[in-house]
Amino acid sequence: MDKNIIDIKNLNFSYKKTHKEIEDMVLHVPKGSIYGFLGPNGAGKSTTIRLILGLLKKHSGTVALFREKFNAKTRIEILNKVGALIENPSLYDHLNAVDNLRIAASYRQHIGHDRINEVLEIVNLVNAKKKNVKEFSLGMKQRLGIAISLLSNPELIILDEPTNGLDPKGIIEMRMLITDLNKKYGTTIFISSHLLSEIEKTCTHVGIIRNGKMVYEDTVKALKESKGKNITIEIDTDKHVDTMKVLEQHNKKDSAMLNGLVQIDVEDKEEIIEVIDILRSCNINIYQVSIKNNLEDLFLELTEN
Ligand SMILES: Nc1ncnc2c1ncn2[C@@H]1O[C@H](COP(=O)(O)OP(=O)(O)OP(=O)(O)O)[C@@H](O)[C@H]1O
Ligand SMILES: [Mg+2]
Repeated sequence: MDKNIIDIKNLNFSYKKTHKEIEDMVLHVPKGSIYGFLGPNGAGKSTTIRLILGLLKKHSGTVALFREKFNAKTRIEILNKVGALIENPSLYDHLNAVDNLRIAASYRQHIGHDRINEVLEIVNLVNAKKKNVKEFSLGMKQRLGIAISLLSNPELIILDEPTNGLDPKGIIEMRMLITDLNKKYGTTIFISSHLLSEIEKTCTHVGIIRNGKMVYEDTVKALKESKGKNITIEIDTDKHVDTMKVLEQHNKKDSAMLNGLVQIDVEDKEEIIEVIDILRSCNINIYQVSIKNNLEDLFLELTEN
């Protein structure tokens, strides 16, 4: 908990009164992690990022960065430690990469020419540094955007869908850059995406949002393991302890009591019917069976095509 670089609790936000775009959001980004923020289009990824950076005003809840609450007093100091790239970087097309970096450096304190060369090297744009940005590919522009965000040597980098619109080569280059930044400099990286496959390749941690709510947050390792157990169901019966015993006897392992309900993972909907049949055959009365989360459906939403 203490090691979280971003820590969000019960965050609420809406653009209009009629709809909540972000609802009771919780989010924990451990120091040194590459955190994938995953969700389908319109789920609220960009909105959450804007809230983290204080570009939108939250309605309630807390956002802490580097264990400090974000407010008018702490904002500047905190943001000095963060590099961010939201959607497309704003670049001067008619200027070259070095001039773009010089202008960006002039808005920040204590950034010398050496640092400009360093960031060009990190994002692998040294050979193109004298080229006008209008001749850049989208991938090069994205990397220059990241170079700008790296100028002040941030401890945390926030990237909103940095691979959007890139070709396969651009995607691989972006992936390598992200991994490198994390490995070589220990930078914590928060990266949003709508593709599960992308997050699985680069990230150590994952948070999945849907309709403005966090529905799954864990390590990528745990996510890969939970893919075999797709559906979690909650069962309300007249005999909870017996329910668990009976399930155990029928080789349905790892049921648990949670919030007064028996919880168990099943592989598919057929297995839900099987569980009901087992319990009924043992004279257990069932009041309710509900699907707590269906990771399979969730993952399908987040897969190409
Ligand atoms: N400026 C705005 N005014 C009103 N509603 C907005 C605004 N920006 C976003 N929304 C709405 O808020 C919700 C979340 O949008 P957001 O852009 O955060 O999603 P996202 O996960 O980043 O989606 P995408 O993958 O398409 O980038 C959507 O329903 C969207 O229509
Ligand atoms: Mg977005």
